[in-house]
Amino acid sequence: SPTLQGLAAARGLVWGTAVTNDQLQNPDLQRLVTSQSGLIVPESELKWDGVEAAPGRFDFSAPDRLLAFAREHGLVMRGHTLLWHEQLPGWVKALPAAELDKALATYIRTVVGHYRGKLPSWDVVNEPIADDGTGLRRNLWLERLGPEYIASALTRAHQADPKAALVINEYGLEGDDAKTARKRRSFLALLRQLRDRGVPLNAVGLQAHLYANGSGATTFRTLPVFLRELAALNLDIYVTELDVNDRELPAAIPERDRAVAEVYAAFLAAVLPEPRLKLITSWGLSDRTTWLNSFFPRADGLPQRPLPFDANNQAKPATLAIMAALGKS
Ligand code: G3I
Repeated sequence: SPTLQGLAAARGLVWGTAVTNDQLQNPDLQRLVTSQSGLIVPESELKWDGVEAAPGRFDFSAPDRLLAFAREHGLVMRGHTLLWHEQLPGWVKALPAAELDKALATYIRTVVGHYRGKLPSWDVVNEPIADDGTGLRRNLWLERLGPEYIASALTRAHQADPKAALVINEYGLEGDDAKTARKRRSFLALLRQLRDRGVPLNAVGLQAHLYANGSGATTFRTLPVFLRELAALNLDIYVTELDVNDRELPAAIPERDRAVAEVYAAFLAAVLPEPRLKLITSWGLSDRTTWLNSFFPRADGLPQRPLPFDANNQAKPATLAIMAALGKS
């Protein structure tokens, strides 16, 4: 029977899945991941607080375990994420500017160096644009190091692994609302500056945390034009964290599943024609493992159904919608 990776590969794409070591303890989930995906990305294991909990004490055991799993099953693993304003160890947050820059340089050199030649791509900078879309996010990097932190991180990552594709990963760029339009303008301005200066950057990651109904991205009329603007900057496009939040929908499962499937279909119809699209990664495969139940729980307490397969790893309307979209030429 068709698989997400099989259908993606037939059109020159890769289907990826975010996983954790914990999730892979479950043999059924392991089977689902290895049969449906060509790539994995650590959902948590490559974040700073896990990798360097104390200064200079690097611990790669958890991400190394995921890489070993990937290789054993003929999958690749990509890197997520070097520079983020979350999951930072306390000692990093406490550093004054000069030491922060030094710690960051050491971190990038050590982590990217550890995986040199082993990961095809890295999310170097994660979520650099402000939530309201007006410019760069006022995170500790911007506040202590200034806007140069982005170019500097990309340059350092490139030095540590010249062959890895370097990515800036951002959310809230998919929809048709005014805030998204603002965020796109800020994002494109940043990308143009980096390109004009010759800073190494190969791709953009669109996280694509979508919504069935509710407050976020549900329609994608303006997305194809935005993708063309990214492509015109000579950047590849990765969908990096795809899922569909069903928090605002009524309880009935058939209704929820239909709405989620419709969002998948509309989103894929908008992105699949773009020739620079290379990778689609969903943020998990099975509803059993979604981050949304802890971060955006439904008011009625029912588990969300945001991912391509249901909580028993069985096909559901979203599965069929995704497969139909991937199968269309
Ligand atoms: O591993 C510890 C465990 O040892 C401990 O007992 C437990 C108690 O809370 O926490 C565990 O860590 C949690 C980790 O997920 C486990 O996977 C963290 O508390 C929790 O904050 C963490 O959440 C992750 C979140 O990023 C923050 O890193 C989510 O799983 C993950 O889905 C989410 O992913 C982010 C992307 O990286 C960036 N884009 C947005 C996306 C969703 O927020």
